[in-house]
Amino acid sequence: MRLVIRHLSPLIRSRRRISYLLTTGILLSITFIFFIINQNQESKNFLNQPIKRQDQKFESSNNITTLTQKTIPTQRKVTWPIDEQGRSLKTNFLVLDWTGFFGSAATEGEHVKCSSSNMTFIWTRQQNRINEIDFIISHGADGSIPFDRLHLNNDQQQYTMAFIMESEVHSGTGDGWARFNFKMTYNLDDSYPEPATYFDMNSYLIDLLTPSIISFENKEKRADIVWIISNCHAHNGREGFVERLMTEIKIDSYGACLNNRHGYGGRMTDNFDAYKQYKFVIAIENSNCLDYVTEKLVLAVRSGSIPIVAGINNRPDYRRYLPEHSFINIFDYSSIKDLANDLKRIANNKTLYESYLWYKKHDKNISNLQELLLNEKLKHFIDVIGSNATMITDGIAGKEKSENKVCKLIRFVRQTSWQDIAAHKKTARADSSNACLQGQYILTHFNSARKNNSEPRTV
Ligand SMILES: *[C@@H]1O[C@H](CO)[C@@H](O)[C@H](O)[C@H]1NC(C)=O
Ligand SMILES: *[C@@H]1O[C@H](CO)[C@@H](O)[C@H](O)[C@H]1NC(C)=O
Ligand SMILES: *[C@@H]1O[C@H](CO)[C@@H](O)[C@H](O)[C@H]1NC(C)=O
Ligand SMILES: *[C@@H]1O[C@H](CO)[C@@H](O)[C@H](O)[C@H]1NC(C)=O
Ligand SMILES: *[C@@H]1O[C@H](CO)[C@@H](O)[C@H](O)[C@H]1NC(C)=O
Ligand SMILES: *[C@@H]1O[C@H](CO)[C@@H](O)[C@H](O)[C@H]1NC(C)=O
Repeated sequence: MRLVIRHLSPLIRSRRRISYLLTTGILLSITFIFFIINQNQESKNFLNQPIKRQDQKFESSNNITTLTQKTIPTQRKVTWPIDEQGRSLKTNFLVLDWTGFFGSAATEGEHVKCSSSNMTFIWTRQQNRINEIDFIISHGADGSIPFDRLHLNNDQQQYTMAFIMESEVHSGTGDGWARFNFKMTYNLDDSYPEPATYFDMNSYLIDLLTPSIISFENKEKRADIVWIISNCHAHNGREGFVERLMTEIKIDSYGACLNNRHGYGGRMTDNFDAYKQYKFVIAIENSNCLDYVTEKLVLAVRSGSIPIVAGINNRPDYRRYLPEHSFINIFDYSSIKDLANDLKRIANNKTLYESYLWYKKHDKNISNLQELLLNEKLKHFIDVIGSNATMITDGIAGKEKSENKVCKLIRFVRQTSWQDIAAHKKTARADSSNACLQGQYILTHFNSARKNNSEPRTV
């Protein structure tokens, strides 16, 4: 709307002058009067409509749309420039934050620069500016967006994007997601055009390549394993599993769940200080879903100890997030006792223990990496772990570009024709019964393994 007014105002001013002259003309010729009144009437309508309506919502302004198209037919071409392939040539985008994010929201008018492309965008929260916007961003698939008012054609390219960072167990799923042009979640394959994960690759790649702070000899002696968790009712039943593992091997638990030791608070930085002291960190997520891996793993890797994780049937596949032979997957063991015995074996053999941190041994200068662009960091990482690693070919290292979600979209629409984006099949977000293992899975898995007597190795 503001755009319409701005484009009209020179016209409005000139019409005012004209009407003034014409009104003066009344004095000169009686035969002109009807003509003049008629003109005056028309110009008054013309003047008043957009001004009167500027406070109204877009919904009621059909006349203005008509007016805009009639009087400034080239405006749309100028506003949404595209190249011959239908790729956006815009350099500044208007982005509507439709939902806010957990009570906070974008700052009205905030200007953001995307370093990957040097493009800029401006945040707005004014839902009545829908006819101007390039992107509507929704936390979760908000159904109140007026999708039918948005245009995707040669004249206008307006896109919607829904994102979420919570697992399917704890957030909305379903068909609502299929209405959005773009879906950005931690799911590496389901996301379009790119995932939005917990991994900042610029720091994660350096975390991976950084040697452990505390040497094998100086690790905590009281226990080999640390666990710090405050959600004691995880969907996958991890606390029941840890409780049983505790009967086989010493675990220090500083969090609220199964607490048996004090000294570190509940904050992330405290967790890191604790993690680095121990040989192993239990980094099992609260639910086992496709690609659901969070900062829990990032922190474990940063600490330089070996993560103990839980992934089966790709829920999740930790090879997408870590180098081979760098983590302990509980599902690789047929019983909790076997797992505990292997952990003890690794914890008591320095050569074996350090073999799990093989990727931290290299001749790269870590302090030099800091300043490099993500692509250059990645090259160094590939030198160390090999280009065939799942993490590179099909994992987080290739898929997470680690920038503002909107910048990801901007980069994409400048590289991809609107026709291709329009043709992309929009899909629902799979619900937890498809994306995740069933509730209490970890416990039932090991209970049934115990009952089976035979000891089949899973995975
Ligand atoms: C345009 O505005 C006039 C006067 O306000 C109204 O009578 C008419 O119905 C409107 N036309 C449309 C298409 O909304
Ligand atoms: C952004 O602009 C800076 C300064 O002009 C330039 O050095 C840089 O290469 C540009 N980046 C991209 C991705 O175009
Ligand atoms: C320690 O582990 C290494 C590597 O697996 C192995 O070669 C060695 O025999 C182990 N040492 C002992 C004492 O078990
Ligand atoms: C690593 O890089 C930093 C910063 O460029 C430099 O000061 C340091 O000397 C380098 N270290 C080695 C071992 O080359
Ligand atoms: C990577 O995998 C391909 C196909 O499996 C193989 O031909 C190639 O030699 C591998 N490269 C390395 C560096 O291992
Ligand atoms: C135990 O046996 C049942 C039935 O044969 C099977 O479905 C299940 O996967 C087995 N559990 C494990 C952990 O192997």
